Amino acid sequence: MPTTETILSEEKTTAVPMHPTTFVIFGVTGDLAARKLIPALLGLYAKHLLPTRFSIIGFARRPFSREEFRELIRGRMNVKPGQFKEEDIKHFLDHMCYEQGTFDDAAAYERLAKRIKEIDDRHGQCSNKLFHLSVPPTLYPAILNNLADSGLSTPCADETGWTRVLIEKPFGHDLETARHLDKLLGKLFQEEQIFRIDHYLAKESLQNILAFRFANQLFEPIWRREFIDKIHIKLFESNTVGDRGDSYDPVGALKDVGQNHMLMMLAAVAMDRPDNFDAETIRNKRAQVLKKIKAAFGGSARCAIRGQYAGYTSEENVPKDSKTETYFRLKSFVNSSRWKGVPFYLEAGKAMAENKTEIDVYFKAGKKSGDQNILTFRIQPDEGIKIKFFVKTPGHEFMVEPKTLKFKYADVPAPNWQSMPNDYERLIHDAFVGDQTLFASTEEIMSSWKFIEAVLKSWTNIPLSSYAKGAKEV
Ligand code: BG6
Repeated sequence: MPTTETILSEEKTTAVPMHPTTFVIFGVTGDLAARKLIPALLGLYAKHLLPTRFSIIGFARRPFSREEFRELIRGRMNVKPGQFKEEDIKHFLDHMCYEQGTFDDAAAYERLAKRIKEIDDRHGQCSNKLFHLSVPPTLYPAILNNLADSGLSTPCADETGWTRVLIEKPFGHDLETARHLDKLLGKLFQEEQIFRIDHYLAKESLQNILAFRFANQLFEPIWRREFIDKIHIKLFESNTVGDRGDSYDPVGALKDVGQNHMLMMLAAVAMDRPDNFDAETIRNKRAQVLKKIKAAFGGSARCAIRGQYAGYTSEENVPKDSKTETYFRLKSFVNSSRWKGVPFYLEAGKAMAENKTEIDVYFKAGKKSGDQNILTFRIQPDEGIKIKFFVKTPGHEFMVEPKTLKFKYADVPAPNWQSMPNDYERLIHDAFVGDQTLFASTEEIMSSWKFIEAVLKSWTNIPLSSYAKGAKEV
């Protein structure tokens, strides 16, 4: 069993390899690249966390000259004025170039391979290569097959000149399509080359659940069914689906955030203590939990709720008769000796009163007081941890009253808080150093789809409730 010391001194290779590295973004003109990827790469560059010799090749359909491409990226990337030094932005953009092509055109991959070879010749070395698929999942097979056919998926060597591929969610749209995609990936790449993204895993506040649980001896002995009454995981967003109606409507809340982000939060809070902190052990521990979740239907009416916010069917590209849920609440159980009988509530919704992602752990009430200690992991915003506990009310009477112990990341003195990597910086960094801990394994993905499919089969009879935009609860 690891001690606090072993956890805290666990050594991970965090140094970014100095070997020249080429990062290829398929779908570079898309929304994800502008909102998350390019700012994350720029952030890593500004913190000197990219290899000195790095190149970014953007790949997309529309024709652009190199200059037009850089101007487009500069204009669209989601960074705040003053967030980066002008000089850093300029030098960063100097590392970028563009390759135009359609995703199913073999000739475009030949051109891409030639472009990478020119870069390698300039360095006099075969570069490490990272391919990021920032495109709709329907395009994954064409890109993956073409990468293999053009020889780009083949590493030059194990240590240097490696090739890795980063796959965005959704990973399939059900169990069968997820299996299919995984089979294709497995045929073309070794497991250590595949990085399946769930950006929630990379949130600092989510990783802190493991640190908090396993570095403090205080909670681990009581982290089980005898002492915990229930666990409630919430992912509330105040945003509506906005202009994402066409991609959101065929999916719905359960698949959009339930199959991935919420189950990863559940895994972090419920997994057993790992013997060590390497990627394989942690991923196995998460997978063991995901394999054992079962939703509870029947019983109380609040076991399973599906909701849709009023006005959803008037959103752009949403069918007028859509029955897609924008909210759900599910009661589920983890069928293990640690958790048997402890309900895990999963609840997520769009157009809610506030943005709030948090996990509340309710401890069993003391016999007399009937009051419960509650430990809250606040994932975002206002990231932190708080504990509701009871103290004596000052005075002659022997009475207790609730108080709160709090840790807030925002109170951590600068520069530690400000310089913390955001989720995509962390993911790209870890892909560079080859650490797969924060990426989902095949087993995790398949188990989560099995759970979701079972829910979808059972909840067809549950009526869709309507809720007002800005609702606090449904
Ligand atoms: C995405 C979902 O995976 O996660 C979105 O598709 C959701 O619908 C988003 O808004 C939430 O991520 P974050 O990091 O903004 O909480």
